[in-house]
Amino acid sequence: MKIFVPVEQVAGEPRVAASPDTIKKFTALGNAVSVETGAGKGAHVSDAAFSEAGAKIVKTKTQAAKEADIILKVVRPTPEEAKGYKKGAVVVGILDPYSDLDGLKALSKSGVSAFAMELMPRITRAQSMDVLSSQSNLAGYKAVVDAAAEFDRAMPMMMTAAGTIAPARVFVMGAGVAGLQAIATARRLGAIVSATDVRAVAAEQVESLGASFVMVESDDEDGGQTAGGYAKEMSDDYKKRQAELVAKTIAKQDIVICTALIPGRPAPTLVSKEMVESMKPGSIVVDLAVERGGNCPLSKPGEIVEHKGVKIMGHLNVAGRIPVDASKLYAKNLLNFLEPMFDGESGKFNIDWEDETVTGTALMRDGKIIHPVLSGKE
Ligand code: NAI
Repeated sequence: MKIFVPVEQVAGEPRVAASPDTIKKFTALGNAVSVETGAGKGAHVSDAAFSEAGAKIVKTKTQAAKEADIILKVVRPTPEEAKGYKKGAVVVGILDPYSDLDGLKALSKSGVSAFAMELMPRITRAQSMDVLSSQSNLAGYKAVVDAAAEFDRAMPMMMTAAGTIAPARVFVMGAGVAGLQAIATARRLGAIVSATDVRAVAAEQVESLGASFVMVESDDEDGGQTAGGYAKEMSDDYKKRQAELVAKTIAKQDIVICTALIPGRPAPTLVSKEMVESMKPGSIVVDLAVERGGNCPLSKPGEIVEHKGVKIMGHLNVAGRIPVDASKLYAKNLLNFLEPMFDGESGKFNIDWEDETVTGTALMRDGKIIHPVLSGKE
């Protein structure tokens, strides 16, 4: 099979969908891998490193894209890119199935089979293919490091001859993958950390990291989560009680890290303008949910805004702000997804369309949109 790794076309995307390690592995499986020159630049992987791993470096993408059987992408191909793909090719990436339907239709027109890695089912077997986990974990870490860099005070308690510096108070909203890493990172920096989530099971995880759990009691029988382990949209009464508790908590915080998401829906609004105004000047809000509408209505995508002395940070693609590690883990996720499709002996590529990792992620098969999240939108 011919595999192609292009330069990502979207501005502000430094990640690359392959690493020298994954190229070695794909090559050992009997594939010919082409990498567009400069594809690894943002992640500090040189053409020479890809070449040493067995890839052919191509100067222009047109021919390689047209011939490729498998295209490894970070984000969804642009309609222009999609036009250049061969009918029946396999495209794997973070394809953002919930937005810009026209862009998805452009991809389907090229007749490809496309897999949205962010829809990977959260089953034990698929943990090593889980791009949401690999990327959110890094985003949670980076959110705290970004906050610490903007914070005009120290994070840990320091007892010095000149006096004592009080530790920063960090509140993490949403204790999923990003939130738990944010808690761990803030704790490592010496902050006093608390966190909240609608899922009752998160309490134990938060507490095991040395943070305190702040949560509204709910009479929800499922503990605030769906069968898949994701957050549910909560009732209006719950939201009202949650807002009251959050308002009380936030007023005492120095840094708030927002990570709350509900799959397929806009992010819940959790930190109101009034809550921001209750924080001390110099405080920080990091809104990791900004790409999905934000947990704070004041956050702006790609900007750091200041509101009454409080900085609200809305960096986009936060995992991409650590492109070396993000690319390395992402590339491995793709390899782990595709590797079982190659027959161990013959090396033949065969997609098992019944497999849960395939049915969970396949947005389109030979150009036909098939995923349930897109049903009725074909
Ligand atoms: P996510 O990115 O969809 O959401 C982040 C967090 O925000 C979640 O913990 C969610 O409960 C919380 N949240 C949503 N609405 C909220 C609100 N109104 N107030 C406060 N918090 C709110 O979630 P993520 O990080 O992808 O994890 C979702 C679940 O999947 C977790 O249970 C996680 O442990 C589980 N998981 C399982 C894996 C596996 O078994 N393979 C791998 C990774 C995660």
